[in-house]
Amino acid sequence: MILSTGRLDLREMTDADLPALRAILHDPVAMIAYEGAFDDAESLAWLRRMQERYADDGFGLWAVVLRETGEMIGQCGITRQRIDQDEVIEVGYLFARAHWHRGYAVEAASACRDWAFRELPIDELYAKVRSTNVASMNVAIRLGTTVRRTFTTHYRGVDMPHLAFAVSREAWSRGRRSVPEEPAGS
Ligand SMILES: CC(C)(COP(=O)(O)OP(=O)(O)OC[C@H]1O[C@@H](n2cnc3c(N)ncnc32)[C@H](O)[C@@H]1OP(=O)(O)O)[C@@H](O)C(=O)NCCC(=O)NCCS
Repeated sequence: MILSTGRLDLREMTDADLPALRAILHDPVAMIAYEGAFDDAESLAWLRRMQERYADDGFGLWAVVLRETGEMIGQCGITRQRIDQDEVIEVGYLFARAHWHRGYAVEAASACRDWAFRELPIDELYAKVRSTNVASMNVAIRLGTTVRRTFTTHYRGVDMPHLAFAVSREAWSRGRRSVPEEPAGS
């Protein structure tokens, strides 16, 4: 287990997660920001890429499991990414459509943000968001990130304008200090 939150457990994906992963990556609505659904070969390549990331970096997009049912409902985690010429560390999140609008993405991504600042020597954590992806922007805003710049990626034959959201270590620690302590004895 990598992380646990109030409702969720995050762990590395294994081959046994392929059906749940396909359910997300085959959904054309969930995959709008990626220019449409993946097929079986693309879904398997995605899983293999994550497994390479676990081995090479010690992190990647992890399976998000709803503790109450044991179901894998999404992926969330930390990856190395490029923004123009810069290599950055990013928090990423993709959830099955049946589990949107319940706060799971922010819950999982907040835990991943905290993990990244605890475990990695980074000054900033990024979230790359396609300029059309309003739901993802709202998650990024709830993580305490602000827009640093715009950039364009070229993926699946399409130019995709993006926003680079980020939160600094300093702003992250300031945010944690301003969370009121639980009263003693509560
Ligand atoms: C991006 C994505 C994960 C966001 O999902 P989401 O359901 O909007 O985000 P959350 O799970 O954090 O839920 C937040 C919403 O649930 C609502 N909510 C309901 N119950 C809640 C609860 N108990 N706690 C917190 N929020 C709750 C919030 O008000 C919020 O709604 P709003 O944004 O309309 O105000 C989802 O749209 C997705 O998987 N998209 C496809 C993949 C993708 O594009 N990923 C991003 C690539 S950059």
